[in-house]
Amino acid sequence: MAQNGSSPASPAAPRPSRRHTGAAVRRRTRVAVIGGGPAGLLLSHMLHLGGVDSIVVERQTKAHVLSRIRAGVLEEGTVRLLRDVGLGDRMDREGKPHDGTVIAWQDRAPFLIDTHKHTGRKMMAYGQTAITQDLYAAYERRGGELVEGAADVRLHDVTSDSPFVTFTRDGIAHRIDCDVVAGCDGFHGVSRQSIPADVLRTFERAYPFGWLGIMSETPPLDDIIYAQHERGFALASQRSPMLSRYYVQCPIGTDLADWPDDRFWAELKARFPKPLADRIATGPSIEKSIAPLRSFVAEPMRYGRLFLAGDAAHIVPPTGAKGLNLAVSDVFYLQRALVAHFKAGDDRWLDSYSETALRRVWGAERLSWWLTRLLHVFPEQDGFDTRVNQNEFDHLCASPTAQAALAEQYIGLPLET
Ligand code: FAD
Ligand code: PHB
Repeated sequence: MAQNGSSPASPAAPRPSRRHTGAAVRRRTRVAVIGGGPAGLLLSHMLHLGGVDSIVVERQTKAHVLSRIRAGVLEEGTVRLLRDVGLGDRMDREGKPHDGTVIAWQDRAPFLIDTHKHTGRKMMAYGQTAITQDLYAAYERRGGELVEGAADVRLHDVTSDSPFVTFTRDGIAHRIDCDVVAGCDGFHGVSRQSIPADVLRTFERAYPFGWLGIMSETPPLDDIIYAQHERGFALASQRSPMLSRYYVQCPIGTDLADWPDDRFWAELKARFPKPLADRIATGPSIEKSIAPLRSFVAEPMRYGRLFLAGDAAHIVPPTGAKGLNLAVSDVFYLQRALVAHFKAGDDRWLDSYSETALRRVWGAERLSWWLTRLLHVFPEQDGFDTRVNQNEFDHLCASPTAQAALAEQYIGLPLET
């Protein structure tokens, strides 16, 4: 395995504390996977199918991971991959295929980003919570090893041939020796932070707003709809025939306590064209949360024997529905590389992992940034910005070429093979 850095110990990784030496419970695996979100669980599942053992180390409990409500829309490549690895049954029963996503621009006729017409491929509405449940179920069926509630997780010696991971659980110190560490621990995880600052380059855009989202047990609209309105962006989405997901753009610093359900529904409806607003079925929310919007990429996605995947390496604003899909494409490239490494001694894909994954990442970053800029209202926005956006949308409506280009990016490029 070619090394990216040659010192025996990562300068950023603290030396094991005393309680991690003496009496630590020790285990060994090929791949220590940090983070039991969709990226970590899917990687471990696919490594298992490829005959490579791994242990997943998750900071939270399973109940906590499953209580997080996030992504809802899958690219066709993600759908196909989930089917290929035996995780498609429930998705095909309960998920809802869509020809694309609608843009409702002020009071104009709704416009469909028609991925089916332009690419022959469909999106699928199927929630991240359900995917994570499916992954946990598969994990438990095969008796996979997953550590929940791991505290003080640390990575050690990732530029050496024998990296290891330490953590405590219920006050007991643990150590996992491994050949490779997969950093799948999301944006706030420890893996990316274990890469020295002089190795890592980061690229970032923060947006001056977030999304206030609610889940309600009401029948959703038929389509997934992005609403562009002078009051701000809104989104109508869905999880099942009796479960709706809606979002409204909100200023940074918004307090959930200021948003009782009645206020949310009124604001949501005010941002949709009247014929659509009239069809929105309201009801009590069963979840309400705020997600900040950010674009972020860390390069490279490899440091020695540490490989980053998913939100640990990059974040996109959710406009465009790319984050989970990117996590899945990273995992596809990484498991392929690790299986070739362990089973055939072939490091070609491992050595090109960062470069290959980043090409796709930047495509999604660009699209998500562009759609965010087009569909949201920025506090500093003036008449010039508004007219440029208006013109961009007019061009989209008038140009089949522009429509095809957007559809191709929205559905996601096929995985490079
Ligand atoms: P995460 O889901 O963040 O999982 C990381 C895991 O690591 C977590 O379980 C965490 O507890 C654990 N962890 C963290 N630190 C540590 C540590 N130190 N040690 C051990 N474990 C640790 N994407 C789409 O593709 N389509 C969509 O429609 C979409 N909609 C979205 C809507 C919203 C409102 C939001 C917020 C996001 C949306 N996304 C969407 C993005 C998507 O949810 C994320 O990209 C996805 O969760 C990334 O998965 P991950 O496994 O990389 O990271
Ligand atoms: C969602 O259903 O949560 C969802 C849908 C489309 C997006 C983002 C989130 O772009």
